Amino acid sequence: RSPFTVLGIETSCDDTGVAIVNSDRQIISEAIHLQQQLHEPYGGIVPNLAMSSHQQNLPLVIREALDKANMDIARDIDVVAVTRGPGLPACLGNGLSAGKALAAALRKPLIGVHHMEAHALTARLTQPIPVPFPFLTLLISGGHTLILVAHGVNNYTQLGTTIDDSIGEAYDKTARLLKLPWLKGRGGGPGAALERIAEKGDPKKYKVPIPMTKDKRRKEEMDLSFSGLKTSISNLITNYNLDLDDEDVKRDLASTFQKTAITHLTDKLELAFRWCREKDIKLTALVVSGGVASNKSIRSSLESLATERYNLPLICPPPHLCTDNGVMVAWTGVERFRIGLVDEYIIDHLPRWPI
Ligand code: KG4
Ligand code: ZN
Repeated sequence: RSPFTVLGIETSCDDTGVAIVNSDRQIISEAIHLQQQLHEPYGGIVPNLAMSSHQQNLPLVIREALDKANMDIARDIDVVAVTRGPGLPACLGNGLSAGKALAAALRKPLIGVHHMEAHALTARLTQPIPVPFPFLTLLISGGHTLILVAHGVNNYTQLGTTIDDSIGEAYDKTARLLKLPWLKGRGGGPGAALERIAEKGDPKKYKVPIPMTKDKRRKEEMDLSFSGLKTSISNLITNYNLDLDDEDVKRDLASTFQKTAITHLTDKLELAFRWCREKDIKLTALVVSGGVASNKSIRSSLESLATERYNLPLICPPPHLCTDNGVMVAWTGVERFRIGLVDEYIIDHLPRWPI
């Protein structure tokens, strides 16, 4: 195929992201509108507010991405890619309607993108050389906690997922429990605030159980669980009558939470590595992406696991491409269009869409 250029639109959750990426793996432009300030007073994302904010801002974010690239959509864009799911229904609907209307009006091919595939494939854009398939991937975000083997574009085996809360939800709820103000700006939010104070805490001060440690041999035991961990932290506060105005107490609780979450992730990844070995899948890397993958402690623990125990590189996109953005959607559009995976203009959003 000759070189082509993709406009990508992401509105599955609370960030309105648009970007232009081409088949030579260049990010030509990127624009994003964050909604943190809108949701912080409620302590979490309010779907209706998120939806109306996308509705207001998406046209401007599309305009900004085109202006930054100095591109004319009719002349310079070949393909429109837009997140189709999973995510908040009304939010997805907004972006998808815009993407479909643009593509249909301009007679451009349309690609409906799976948000989690987009998180996984971003690692193939941001490395000097695209990470070859197959790779093991851990996707950790506000909506999902997934362990997958990526065999190729549109070809994944799901090894594990959370049976209750996602890891991002657990970070967010624990941050709320500790009454932490959100960190501001890109890469901010409640999870980042918890990471910040956890750095200075003592992870051994309190004892909490590591989730799901029974019977490590069974495949379904690659599933994860994070709601109990949040409850354990909440119980510590009640049972010991801990004073949340004491910064040391908050730091130690945050640190205990983060250490336990990391141990849980590494336990499950070990099982996944072992499963791949048994199946004789020759992995090239461990890819970790999604908003929580911007966490430095998680990155360094997973790096030790992958390099020291399995002799594989850990690959994480840069933090601003781990959280939701338009680049990951445009890039997935490139990957899919290359192999002819194009969608009809009538596609609907898929709020719950298995990968
Ligand atoms: O991928 P993402 O931007 O949106 C979803 O698709 O969900 O992930 C957002 C999640 C939120 O729960 C947020 O608090 C968390 O990622 N997060 C972090 C950090 N930065 C963002 N969690 C822990 N440490 C961080 N540094
Ligand atoms: Zn995401």
